[in-house]
Amino acid sequence: MLETTTTIEIPLVGEPQVDSAVDPSPSGTGRALYVETYGCQMNLNDTEIVQGIMVRHGYRLANSIDDADVVLLNTCAIRENAERKIHERLKHLRYWRKRKPELVVGVLGCMAERLRKSLLGEQGLVDIVVGPDEYRCLPELVERAAEGEQGIAVKLSRVETYDDITPVRTQGISAWISIMRGCDKFCTFCVVPFTRGRERSRPLNSIVHEAESLWQQGFREVTLLGQNVNSYRDPNGHGDFADLLAAVARAVPQMRIRYTTSHPYDMSDRLIETMALYANICPYIHLPVQSGSDRILQLMNRHYTVAQYLDRITKIRETIPHCALSTDIIVGFCTETEDDHRMTLELMRTVCYDGAYMFKYSPRENTKAWKMGDDVPDEVKSRRLDEIIALQNRISWELNQTEIGKIFDVLVEGPSKRDPAQWHGRTDTNKVVVFPHIGTDAGYVVGDMIRVRINSATSATLHGSIVA
Ligand code: SAH
Ligand code: SF4
Ligand code: F3S
Repeated sequence: MLETTTTIEIPLVGEPQVDSAVDPSPSGTGRALYVETYGCQMNLNDTEIVQGIMVRHGYRLANSIDDADVVLLNTCAIRENAERKIHERLKHLRYWRKRKPELVVGVLGCMAERLRKSLLGEQGLVDIVVGPDEYRCLPELVERAAEGEQGIAVKLSRVETYDDITPVRTQGISAWISIMRGCDKFCTFCVVPFTRGRERSRPLNSIVHEAESLWQQGFREVTLLGQNVNSYRDPNGHGDFADLLAAVARAVPQMRIRYTTSHPYDMSDRLIETMALYANICPYIHLPVQSGSDRILQLMNRHYTVAQYLDRITKIRETIPHCALSTDIIVGFCTETEDDHRMTLELMRTVCYDGAYMFKYSPRENTKAWKMGDDVPDEVKSRRLDEIIALQNRISWELNQTEIGKIFDVLVEGPSKRDPAQWHGRTDTNKVVVFPHIGTDAGYVVGDMIRVRINSATSATLHGSIVA
């Protein structure tokens, strides 16, 4: 069974995914690097930073493991499943290692700190283990590993933001910009504050310059990233996240601007009002609620009640009436009762989210909740998960039916994976729209904005036709 479902198909912070960061036109002439990325968008952007560092040191990007001299797995530790995937992948890599004994294999990212000893020990499968704040050490550690020395660098930093590194981006028209690193929220279930360390923000001016440069390079959409972007503070005193968002919106007025993730506790009126002021800030907010029960929210250390959360939703809907909303929900957190679960279902019905990422609680070592136990049996977690997924699918389907007949501005992303005769793009509310492609003389290319009338809809996708 799927552990997650989504009706808004953007990879959200925390959503496990695999992305092979491949550049079809490798740069440089040196040894070849292949990075596989797991986890959230912050990890995807970190992979681009790693590529930036390595390319600067003369590496080129490989198209596949087959061509690579160095293979790095950028890992996620958010749930047990995510870690299991990495262990399996490392076992697979044994095959390449046999064929190419000089291959350097490294583990990066969120599993590094926690599992450094066991990873290096993992049947000699890993040469280096490097945590999220130590990527500047990579070229040296890889060099030494090539000479047979195992290496480890996992210290977390209070200041590292890689502000001076130009990420090597390899995909499409949409770019991520990490505006901060780490997290200070310490939700009791969450491993991120331990894997990524203390929260720190990048300077506002440099983020604005990066957005301008991305526009000039042909990017048409940027997503500002942080575990809790609402607590962004410019280190030079030029304001908070609302100020940053406004500055980026003004600097690149034709660029679509998105951001993730918001913590409901820090979602200020000013931020919501700023979103409403600029047409290029997308009317879409991912606002993880986690649970519909005040008791569970308190145990999770989320710092808000259901009433306070709903107050934020009301403010959003009053200020940005057409704003799309998505959320994250955890079922089966320690001591969750049937009543707590019913309150979550009720909250979902009240808000009517356009999409949701839903998870079974997975205990993580070091977190506060680890000591609270894991008393909800797995069958109960599975059943509750099925129930919230079924409800969400119904809500998404119903909301999408109301889009039929409407015309949307759609940013063209390219051929649909299933059927190249169909192309896809997104609305500013982040809904995927599929439309028939009428060949090379269709009059549009990837990155163009076109107008599409919606003819039909499922819970996940809108189908439409282009209007002149
Ligand atoms: N910083 C973001 C999300 C980070 S992780 C935020 O606060 O919203 C993404 C999602 O994974 C979380 O919102 C939560 O729903 C889920 N998650 C985190 N830790 C988890 C755990 N131990 N078990 C199950 N789900 C978890
Ligand atoms: Fe984890 Fe909470 Fe931080 Fe999100 S805000 S990364 S859930 S500790
Ligand atoms: Fe992201 Fe997973 Fe780390 S969700 S921050 S890659 S633990």
